[in-house]
Amino acid sequence: MLGLATGSSPLPVYAELVERHRTEGLSFAGTTMFLLDEYVGLGRGHPQSFGAFIRREFVRHIDVKPESVHGPDGNSADLEDACTRYESLIADAGGIGLQLLGIGSNGHIGFNEPPSSLSSRTRVKTLADRTRRDNARFFDMPEEVPLQALTQGVGTILEARRIVLLASGASKSMAIERAVEGPVIPMVPASALQLHPQVTVIVDDDAAGGLEGADYSRSTYRRKPPWQSI
Ligand code: F6R
Repeated sequence: MLGLATGSSPLPVYAELVERHRTEGLSFAGTTMFLLDEYVGLGRGHPQSFGAFIRREFVRHIDVKPESVHGPDGNSADLEDACTRYESLIADAGGIGLQLLGIGSNGHIGFNEPPSSLSSRTRVKTLADRTRRDNARFFDMPEEVPLQALTQGVGTILEARRIVLLASGASKSMAIERAVEGPVIPMVPASALQLHPQVTVIVDDDAAGGLEGADYSRSTYRRKPPWQSI
């Protein structure tokens, strides 16, 4: 069971998996996939819905069965029921084995905007202004970014057996610093990952720039103690 994030951060991972599928026969025929989140009110066919995004960037290039790729139904007439059904779907499938995550510049994971309860389940969240600004790049007009999303909760995410968090660029450095080295608090939902025993954080130099545990110099770049595993 694979948990998928959308957005820019996981794109190199998806490109690599597609390449391995093409060249090495890596197969996803028996894999079930679950999206982290979905905007409220964008039709399934809307190019910026996360369902459309993941089909375009990953799913249609591999051999996963289309019926094995799931996302929360942001178009449901009953959003609360859609959230409950999504939780059940994940549980009935046996839970998520590996969850890929990006991180918002405000420390969100999924669309768990600060503050988010660290034990929250899949639910409707109102997007932070900062998130709507950050994601406006995917839309023609900033005001087209939906106001709300359905998102797996922090508690849902923490039940994945392994988690890989990806971040690149200086705009993520404060979020990474607070998530990895700061206190575990609802105002930094990603900090909850400190409570999980199997998390790998993969960052580039810019995203790692705020970490006290990263030791920089002009000619060498050393890491002490292993901050990429929390
Ligand atoms: C996307 C998601 C978000 C993004 C985060 C980072 O499904 O859940 O948490 O991972 O907003 O987005 P990018 O990677 O575009 O910077």
